[in-house]
Amino acid sequence: MLVVITETIEQGHRTAASLVGQSIMKNPTLRLGLAAGKTPIGVYQSLVDLYRSTHLDFSGVEFFSLDEFLGLPASSLNSYAALLHQQLFRHVNATFGNIHLLKGDAQGDIMSYCHSYEQLIHDRGGIDVQLLGIGINGHLAFNEPMSSFRSRTRVCLLSAETREALSRTFNETEVPEWAVTMGLGTIAEARTLLMLAFGKEKAKAVAQAVEGPLTAAIPASSIQLHPHAVVILDPEAAGDLKFKDYYQQQSSHLALLLPHGLA
Ligand code: GLP
Repeated sequence: MLVVITETIEQGHRTAASLVGQSIMKNPTLRLGLAAGKTPIGVYQSLVDLYRSTHLDFSGVEFFSLDEFLGLPASSLNSYAALLHQQLFRHVNATFGNIHLLKGDAQGDIMSYCHSYEQLIHDRGGIDVQLLGIGINGHLAFNEPMSSFRSRTRVCLLSAETREALSRTFNETEVPEWAVTMGLGTIAEARTLLMLAFGKEKAKAVAQAVEGPLTAAIPASSIQLHPHAVVILDPEAAGDLKFKDYYQQQSSHLALLLPHGLA
């Protein structure tokens, strides 16, 4: 695992966007998995900046979403689909047919819908780069504590802790109880993982995920098993890490360690 500590959150956003941008330049038909939540918003804004300043071409990139609230249609302002459209798709030259988002309002048998999403990822050749955030309880996507490391795309019940954290962005409306999420096993199959965490409130979960024991109690610890996982942190999110000095040393050699981006 390559842990990168940037001096500021903004630098973390730009570093992540630059790595994704380099990956797109190397492979214009990159299959990119997108996380939602607050954390990656600045990365999407930096990608939009790259599109405007360097004409980074998104037209061949294929996008897959990581998770969604069950019961929310894409038209709901609180849906992750809406966030991805608002923060990224509508500002770049994404090809409509290349955008694959989990549907919170999928009709019919939800388990067969989840299976068809897995099949789609497989049929398109798998995900090259998967962006990830981390929950304060160590969740990855909506894989709450005690999700199996081999879990697949499925419906999950949100924990009280997660719903409480989400209530800050769900102004006035109730946070859904259920979500649909890629499983930890699905995420593990992406060729490269790029996990981001910023701010003090993520420090404990980051330390448990990056340096703690492998345990389903901290779903994000599953990334330790991945051969190509990159973690980008600001100093606050890195605050509880034991090997912080080493990561800082490593961070100054990023261009040597990842000369061609992520994929
Ligand atoms: C959310 C989402 C995750 C996200 C994580 C962190 O609930 N399910 O996909 O990465 O928790 O969210 P945030 O970035 O808003 O802190």
